[in-house]
Amino acid sequence: MADLKGKKALITGASSGFGADFADILAKKGMDLVITARREDKLNSLKAEIEEKYGVKVRVIAMDLTGFDAAEKLYAEVKDENIDMLINNAGYGMYDYFERQDAAALNRMVQLNVVSAMTLANLFVKDLSAKNSGWILNTASFAAFNPTPFYAVYGATKAFLMNFSVALRTELKKNGKNVCVTAFSPGFTATEFVETAGQKRSWFVEKTIGRSYPAAEEAINGLLKNKPVVMPRFMNRFAAFFLRFLPRSLAAEAAFMSIRDKD
Ligand SMILES: NC(=O)c1ccc[n+]([C@@H]2O[C@H](COP(=O)([O-])OP(=O)(O)OC[C@H]3O[C@@H](n4cnc5c(N)ncnc54)[C@H](OP(=O)(O)O)[C@@H]3O)[C@@H](O)[C@H]2O)c1
Repeated sequence: MADLKGKKALITGASSGFGADFADILAKKGMDLVITARREDKLNSLKAEIEEKYGVKVRVIAMDLTGFDAAEKLYAEVKDENIDMLINNAGYGMYDYFERQDAAALNRMVQLNVVSAMTLANLFVKDLSAKNSGWILNTASFAAFNPTPFYAVYGATKAFLMNFSVALRTELKKNGKNVCVTAFSPGFTATEFVETAGQKRSWFVEKTIGRSYPAAEEAINGLLKNKPVVMPRFMNRFAAFFLRFLPRSLAAEAAFMSIRDKD
C-alpha cells in the first residue's frame, strides 16, 4: 500500500464524526493535514491532539462551505501546499417531509453536499492529474443507493456524489492516471449526523447504527486500494445488494417504513 509519510491531506468536515476520524487515521500514517469546518474551537483541539500524538503538522482553516464561491476560496488558501489527498467529507442531512422543508435551507445543503464537493474535486483533480498521483475520497451514503423518503433531497445529493465519483474514477483510470477516487457510502453511524438532521433515534436507527472510526478506517483502506465504492458493514452491503432487485417504488416504501418517525 502507498506510503503516505510526508504527504498532505485536506479534510473537510473535520470538526466531528468521520472527518475527525479521518484526521486521526491519516496523521497516524504520517500525513500532514489541513482540516476545515466551521467550528474553529473543535478544529484547534483536534490539531493540538493530533500534533502531540503523531508529530505531524496540522493547519486549521475555519470556513463555511455553503457559500457559492467557498470551494474556490478554500482552494486558493491551499493551492501552494501541494495537497496529495482530498477528503470531501463535509455534509449534513435534513430529515422531514419534503413539503414541510424550506427551499432556501435545502439549497444550502445542496450547495455544501454537492456543489462545494464537486468544485473542490474539479480544482484538485487538475493538480493531482498533472503530477499523476493522488487520492480523492467523496463521502456519499447508503442513501445514495435508494430513494430515501424523509431524506428525499439529502439522498439525492449523495446519489449525485456516488455516481460522480465512480464516473470520475473511470475517466482517470482509462486515461492511465494514477489518481484514486472512492465513494464512501456508510449507513447510519454514531456521529452528530442524526441529531443535526433532526431525526429521532428511533428503534431502527438504534438497531442499525454503527461506529465511525472502523468505518473511516475501511474507507481509507479502500481509497488506497482504489476501490470504486466502500460500504462498511455486511448488513449494509447485504441490504444494498437486495434493494437493487426491488422496483424503486417498493425500495422507497421500505425506506419510508424503516426510518419514519414523523406523522
Ligand atoms: N453519520 C451517518 O449516519 C452518515 C451516514 C452516511 C453519510 N454520512 C455523511 O458523512 C459525512 C460526515 O458526517 P458525520 O456523520 O461525520 O456527521 P457530523 O459529525 O455532523 O459531521 C459533519 C461535518 O461537516 C461539517 N459541516 C457541516 N456544515 C458545514 C458547513 N456549512 N461548512 C463547512 N463544514 C460543515 C461539520 O462541521 P461544522 O459544524 O464545525 O461546520 C462537521 O465537521 C457527511 O457528508 C454525511 O452526509 C453520515
